[in-house]
Amino acid sequence: MTSVHESFADRKIVITGGLGFIGSNLARRLVDLGASVTLVDSLMPEYGGSLFNIAGIEGKVTVNISDVRDQYSIEYLVHGQDYLFNLAGQTSHIDSMHDPYTDLRYCQMLWIGFHSARPWGPTPSANQLCYLQRELTLPI
Ligand SMILES: NC(=O)c1ccc[n+]([C@@H]2O[C@H](COP(=O)([O-])OP(=O)(O)OC[C@H]3O[C@@H](n4cnc5c(N)ncnc54)[C@H](O)[C@@H]3O)[C@@H](O)[C@H]2O)c1
Repeated sequence: MTSVHESFADRKIVITGGLGFIGSNLARRLVDLGASVTLVDSLMPEYGGSLFNIAGIEGKVTVNISDVRDQYSIEYLVHGQDYLFNLAGQTSHIDSMHDPYTDLRYCQMLWIGFHSARPWGPTPSANQLCYLQRELTLPI
C-alpha cells in the first residue's frame, strides 16, 4: 500500500478554503510531507479564513486570494496540479437553509472549472461530485 508520504511528497496540491480551519491545518501537514501547496481562499469577512491560520508556514506555501466561483481563476489555479482538496465553503447550517444557492454555486463552479482546466482527465463518480462541496481529495 502507498504511504501518505509517498502519495503527497513532491506533489502539487491546491487547497480551496486553504486559509480556513481545516484547509490551513491540512496545509501544515502537506508541507511537512514535502508537497508543493497552493492555498486558494476568498478571505470574505463573514467566513472563517485568516492569514493568521498559516502563521509559521507562510513562506512555504503559495497563497492566492480568489473566489472558487470565479471560473477563470479556478481554471488557472487547477492547471498542472496533482491533487485538489476542496474545503472552501460557508459553515453555517442556518445560512445554507436560508440561501442554498450559494452552497450549490460553490459545488458547481469549482466542478466546472476543474473540468475545463483538464477536460482530458478522469471523470469522478456521482458520489465524488456530491462530496466536492465539502471535503474531497481528487487525484487530478
Ligand atoms: N470544521 C468542522 O468540524 C467541519 C465538519 C464537517 C464539515 N466541514 C466542512 O468543511 C469545510 C471547511 O470547514 P472549516 O471548518 O475549515 O471552515 P472555515 O470557515 O474555517 O474555512 C472555510 C474557508 O473557505 C473560504 N471560502 C468561503 N467561500 C469561499 C469562496 N467562494 N472562494 C474561496 N474560498 C472561500 C473561507 O474564507 C474560509 O477560509 C466547510 O465546507 C465545512 O462545512 C467542517
